[in-house]
Amino acid sequence: MPDYNNIFSLKNKTAVITGGAGLIGNKIVHALIDFGAKVFIADTDIQKSDFFSSKFKKNKFSYHNIDITSKSSVNALIQEMKNNNEIIDIWINCAYPKTKDWGNKFESISHESWSENVDMHMNGYFLCCQSALEHMKDQGAGSVINMASIYGMVGPDFSIYKETDMTMPAAYAAIKGGIISMTRYLASYYGPYNIRVNSISPGGIFDNQPESFVNNYEMKCPLKRMGTTNDLIGGTIFLASDASQYVTGHNLVIDGGWTSI
Ligand SMILES: NC(=O)c1ccc[n+]([C@@H]2O[C@H](COP(=O)([O-])OP(=O)(O)OC[C@H]3O[C@@H](n4cnc5c(N)ncnc54)[C@H](O)[C@@H]3O)[C@@H](O)[C@H]2O)c1
Repeated sequence: MPDYNNIFSLKNKTAVITGGAGLIGNKIVHALIDFGAKVFIADTDIQKSDFFSSKFKKNKFSYHNIDITSKSSVNALIQEMKNNNEIIDIWINCAYPKTKDWGNKFESISHESWSENVDMHMNGYFLCCQSALEHMKDQGAGSVINMASIYGMVGPDFSIYKETDMTMPAAYAAIKGGIISMTRYLASYYGPYNIRVNSISPGGIFDNQPESFVNNYEMKCPLKRMGTTNDLIGGTIFLASDASQYVTGHNLVIDGGWTSI
């Protein structure tokens, strides 16, 4: 009989998370460790390393200054893990590289800026997927999770941004839509190697946005609130663990019903 009580356990599993120092990544790191995994945090923000050292024992995590836009940087981490006989059971792409002018209105986005954002974000996810999946192929198992977004699935409702300086950048739609499609492709390509590739599409996560935006968002959202980083944990652990052993190519939407209306 399968041990149903432990199907979500990540005991003896090793996970890499890019963008692990960020708003969402940081919460996922905590959860992965709580569920028993050893976690490799891969992030360009080296300042945050001390924060994790103050929270977790040394044998639970390690912090790596890795840039997902650089093949050699990503491969250096994988090589280091190989040298230390570390298996990569789980790879989560959660980094959010963006240019300084991110958030410009569509009519004022330069072609250079558009290209740079697609190059850093979508192509960075490609680089990580390629390196991680080829490594997992040699291992004969693995689970990859790509953080996507509702805005890779549906167009924005611009009325929620009125009375604020906020907008939803156009490149985000292209990038996240591309990541969701790439995830399906990779699920098909690597399925025969016992590797699963899924994406998660969160809705808007509360992060002290302007009050009028939060009110507008809550009014439209069927569950009448913005998401929290905690809301993403159940789905992430599900896709990372054996609980989802027959799930691949899936885009798990965690959005309080936003895309259902
Ligand atoms: N916050 C939201 O409302 C929301 C909603 C849907 C989807 N998402 C997605 O979730 C993921 C994480 O978002 P977040 O809100 O936690 O972002 P964040 O900006 O808080 O964190 C992103 C992290 O990525 C790191 N990073 C940036 N460039 C990098 C690079 N080149 N290489 C490695 N690390 C790099 C940053 O240092 C940071 O720690 C992103 O893919 C984002 O698109 C976020």
